[in-house]
Amino acid sequence: MLILCVTKNRIMNLIYADKICIMAYVEREPMQVSTAPRKPRILLAASGSVAAIKFGNLCSCFSDWADVKAVATQAALHFIDRTSLPKDVILYTDEHEWSSWSKIGDSVLHIELRRWADIMVIAPLSANTLGKIAGGLCDNLLTSIIRAWDYEKPIFVAPAMNTFMWTNPFTERHLMSIDELGVTLIPPVSKRLACGDYGTGAMAEPSLIFSTVRLFLESRQNASSSRTH
Ligand SMILES: Cc1cc2nc3c(=O)[nH]c(=O)nc-3n(C[C@H](O)[C@H](O)[C@H](O)COP(=O)(O)O)c2cc1C
Repeated sequence: MLILCVTKNRIMNLIYADKICIMAYVEREPMQVSTAPRKPRILLAASGSVAAIKFGNLCSCFSDWADVKAVATQAALHFIDRTSLPKDVILYTDEHEWSSWSKIGDSVLHIELRRWADIMVIAPLSANTLGKIAGGLCDNLLTSIIRAWDYEKPIFVAPAMNTFMWTNPFTERHLMSIDELGVTLIPPVSKRLACGDYGTGAMAEPSLIFSTVRLFLESRQNASSSRTH
């Protein structure tokens, strides 16, 4: 086991090897830390609901305020018009997950994206992906990111599904499980659904999803800056 402690101008390594403890002190120049604020890094993900037709709009809502990367499941790709995404937003799919890896030492996309993101937003969240997250399954890029997620970092989900799916008992069970993980629900709304039925299950509007995430982050930043002053 290696424990690395960084102090003001010194790096101290504590190396434990078969109960032998070696302490090494290395003098270093003070670390240069940039104080320039950077944009928040938002990972936007879409799963296979018809509401994914709004994914381009969702990416546009975030892209001025944040650095955005996008992820889509195979089913979501049926609904996403790639030309509707802002030019600077890369859309990652399961194909990238596998094509970017060929040998030991290559980076693993779901780990890189999990590391990169400050916040993840899944909108729309399909019934299937909800169930998989609740059960810890990870058989594609999106669910592998979630399975590797650091739950100190916020995740928001905006479910979208037919009312029959939304009111099915599985939905409540799965929502309770992801709530325990610390996932924040942006609830669906009632309206005429894509299938023609009227009821609850339509995804919250992209502008509402954006303002929810932005307000959350800004109020958290304000709270932490008032603690430090
Ligand atoms: C036209 C069409 C529309 C669909 N709309 C929804 C939907 O709004 N919500 C949902 O949860 N599933 C919907 N589904 C089913 C999902 O696409 C299906 O469960 C799929 O396996 C989801 O995969 P994913 O969770 O990996 O994206 C729809 C399927 C079709 C064919």
